[in-house]
Amino acid sequence: MSREGIQPVIFVIFGASGDLTRRKLIPAIYDLFKHKLLPEKFAVLGVSRSKLSDDDFRQKGLLANDLFDVSDEPKETVEAFAQLLFYQPIDTNEADDYAKVRERLEKLDADFATAGNFIFYLSTPPVLYDKIPKFLTAHGLNRAQGCIRRLVIEKPFGYDRESARSLNRSLTEFFPENEIYRIDHYLGKETVQNLLVTRFANSVFEPLWNRNYIHHVQITNAEPIGVGNRGGYYDQSGALRDMLQNHLMQIVAHVAMEPPISPSADAIRAEKIKLFQSLRPIEESEVAKSCIRGQYMASNMRGEMVKGYRDEEGVPGDSKTETFAAVKFHIDNWRWSGVPFYVRTGKRLPTKVTEVAITFNKPPHKIFRRECDYSLANNQLVMRIQPDEGLLLGFGMKVPGEGFNVKNVGMDFHYSDLAQEDVPEAYERLLLDCIKGDPTLYAHGESVEYSWQFVEPILNAWQNDDSIPVYGYPAGTWGPEVADAMIEPEELTWRNPCRMLTEDTSFCVL
Ligand code: BG6
Repeated sequence: MSREGIQPVIFVIFGASGDLTRRKLIPAIYDLFKHKLLPEKFAVLGVSRSKLSDDDFRQKGLLANDLFDVSDEPKETVEAFAQLLFYQPIDTNEADDYAKVRERLEKLDADFATAGNFIFYLSTPPVLYDKIPKFLTAHGLNRAQGCIRRLVIEKPFGYDRESARSLNRSLTEFFPENEIYRIDHYLGKETVQNLLVTRFANSVFEPLWNRNYIHHVQITNAEPIGVGNRGGYYDQSGALRDMLQNHLMQIVAHVAMEPPISPSADAIRAEKIKLFQSLRPIEESEVAKSCIRGQYMASNMRGEMVKGYRDEEGVPGDSKTETFAAVKFHIDNWRWSGVPFYVRTGKRLPTKVTEVAITFNKPPHKIFRRECDYSLANNQLVMRIQPDEGLLLGFGMKVPGEGFNVKNVGMDFHYSDLAQEDVPEAYERLLLDCIKGDPTLYAHGESVEYSWQFVEPILNAWQNDDSIPVYGYPAGTWGPEVADAMIEPEELTWRNPCRMLTEDTSFCVL
């Protein structure tokens, strides 16, 4: 990462007293500062309802941040960074109060010589997403000749297609589309970006990347944690809205889109939109067959008794919200015709892992049929998003000795083998891109709407059709058993990954 193309700016965080600011934003901005990647003329203005002073904000966000320990960081760097943090309390629901933001920004802009460049980051409850841009506009903060005025918006981006569309409409009334940055932190992950490099910077993979050679594609996202203290939010959302509609559909797009003509934001976004347009809609009547939902139940996980979802704080005792979702779908285009995609996500699964597994077709002519079990002879390419980031290619090899006994072995690459210093955190990369004005790794409004359009029939069926079961699964397992049978033909199933990429998945340490 470099400072190239960077301009002075004030970074304004709405919702500055919230968790995300302490957990992700301040640590990411601090790291950029430490690595001298921020503009030389730079300041942060935190805005929210809590009545804090600049000093309180510096304490809460940095010096005594319970979610980001700076005790091992160089003291002078931490102190120098603290001097760039400022805070303005306002009632974010009150249009008039934004005059205080304007005044404060004018003052900081003069002190730090930031040339009137402001980035507004909305890390607030979604009800404020259309209010804040409107109130900023009322005070002339959304536009200024020759100045950067940018809006960054956290998920959830809408609740369904209609609300996403109406949010897009209202945001573009105040900020032009190319200045709206919809953050999806998965796009900031090196390994998600590397999906494009694996495909388009090599000549071995892409010729195989189609219906002629690929049998099916699996994407697994698993987390051992439950909903914790987010029960209130999560129960309104569920696994489909929380993970699948955004993060996992972005991964699908990277795996399945056509080669863009260049790595520019416009070229990549155009291919993603085309891909989303090619998703075969799942009719509500098919949902019971193609989609499985589940909810974790109390169980013993690694020696510790954990609560069931319905006993979590903020979750109604009769909730039907899914904490596990598995969806089978098709992409109706030339490349993917007939290739099923399977995507699953869940809380309280055995381990934390996200990966893409491409399963190739079996060899067409089975000359070793006497010695080799061809039911297991599908080559598999695993692209690990996290943890133990890397690539694993599984293939058959002759067992030394007489005859032609075949054994599955793996060729692997791990990011940890790279001599280079640390892989940047997703938020660091994304914030820096936004400061530089590069929207490549941000979601476009139109693709967000298409992705909602795809998941909407599933959401509707799950909400309206009581005959579709919510399967319980004991915490610490790979979700409802019925989900195992989704993958066809019968002898194939999910790759249940372990923490380490190359561990044998039939027996592993979680
Ligand atoms: C968030 C979801 O967007 O992503 C969380 O709201 C989830 O429920 C998190 O835990 C997962 O992110 P990561 O980067 O830890 O895989």
